[in-house]
Amino acid sequence: MSRLQNKHIIVAISGGIAAYKSAELVRLLITAGAQVEVVMTRGATEFITPLTLQALSGNPVHQHLLDSSAEAGMGHIQLARWADSILIAPCTAHVIARLAQGQADDLLGTLCLATQAPVLLAPAMNQAMWADSATQANAQLLSERGYTLLGPAIGEQACGDVGPGRMLEPAQLVEHLQQSFSSHALQGREVVITAGPTREAIDPVRYLSNHSSGKMGYALAQAAVEAGARVHLISGPTNLAVPADLKCTQVDSAQEMLTACQAACQHADLFIASAAVADYRPAQAADQKMKKSAPDSNLRLHLVQNPDILATIAHDFPDITCIGFAAETEKLLAHAQAKLHRKKVSMIIANDVSDTDIGFNSDHNQVHLVTANGVTALPRLTKAQLARQLIDNIAQLDQ
Ligand code: C5P
Repeated sequence: MSRLQNKHIIVAISGGIAAYKSAELVRLLITAGAQVEVVMTRGATEFITPLTLQALSGNPVHQHLLDSSAEAGMGHIQLARWADSILIAPCTAHVIARLAQGQADDLLGTLCLATQAPVLLAPAMNQAMWADSATQANAQLLSERGYTLLGPAIGEQACGDVGPGRMLEPAQLVEHLQQSFSSHALQGREVVITAGPTREAIDPVRYLSNHSSGKMGYALAQAAVEAGARVHLISGPTNLAVPADLKCTQVDSAQEMLTACQAACQHADLFIASAAVADYRPAQAADQKMKKSAPDSNLRLHLVQNPDILATIAHDFPDITCIGFAAETEKLLAHAQAKLHRKKVSMIIANDVSDTDIGFNSDHNQVHLVTANGVTALPRLTKAQLARQLIDNIAQLDQ
């Protein structure tokens, strides 16, 4: 799976001749598994039609700031929040100047001010325009403010000049975008992550389980791989595709999950318990399918407690930095703090599962990070965005 799989990428196209290459850029991003929304400035539409970009991205193109139908769909602030990354390709001298001034009178300017996502610029212009001291000063200012400049490349230009000012090729831009998702925050670290629900057998065809989708744990596993870690994902049953470049062990029950974690943690630096482990299991799973007995008779299941995997690993492997989750419906922070001390872990990631918009099965989540040093609230994010922020926070614990 590519690093761009499911990443939310805004490709913003401004008015330069290289805009024709942006069609290929969008096609490559879609092939790499990214979700792409295209923004076009008025100048861009003089070079390439929005219809081409709509066909390639699979989404209507965003062109105007003050457009009531667009705002009723994905408005500009929503778009700014949706983005994992914004790539302006081609980025003209005019756009560079406007961004340097923080102008917000069109969609692109507003997006760049409103977003928390990284903004990457692929300058494309005549070599003399690029060399001009105004453009150079603007580009320098943007790079100091955290914008990433990709290129320009040196070569023959559409106007006949030769020099720096060519937009990087679409494949090179995709490669840079892939690299931008590698933080190196966990470079060389070994991380074990549990995910998904467990199934506790009642008989050969029935089990006790829960609604965990595994999405948060899988997103964490992918973010940890992107941060340079060697990842061993230990997963209960889910419908999710296993991310690339990691080891995955599939298990069913809590006891199987514990055994797999104990083996995997022998050389681990970090243990992240995101699985929704069943607290209880039937004391004895029946060998044969249980039959319904006389009408109106009830069935009593005798349940025993499952091992607490997180607490066991924290106890048995004191050198490993352990992180747990607390899914709560009330007294979120008090319960999370109690768990931090009871399970003797370094961080509890607390979320309120009474809010159906976040948590189990949702694509979004909003959490508080609870450590011995206090509580940090993170904003509501997609699970993929949140996973990257969590990995960055977890990496700081591990230093
Ligand atoms: O105690 P509670 O289930 O609320 O704790 C949640 C945290 O503990 C999660 O990180 C979960 O993965 C972990 N846990 C565990 N084994 C259990 C129960 C919970 O690892 N049996």
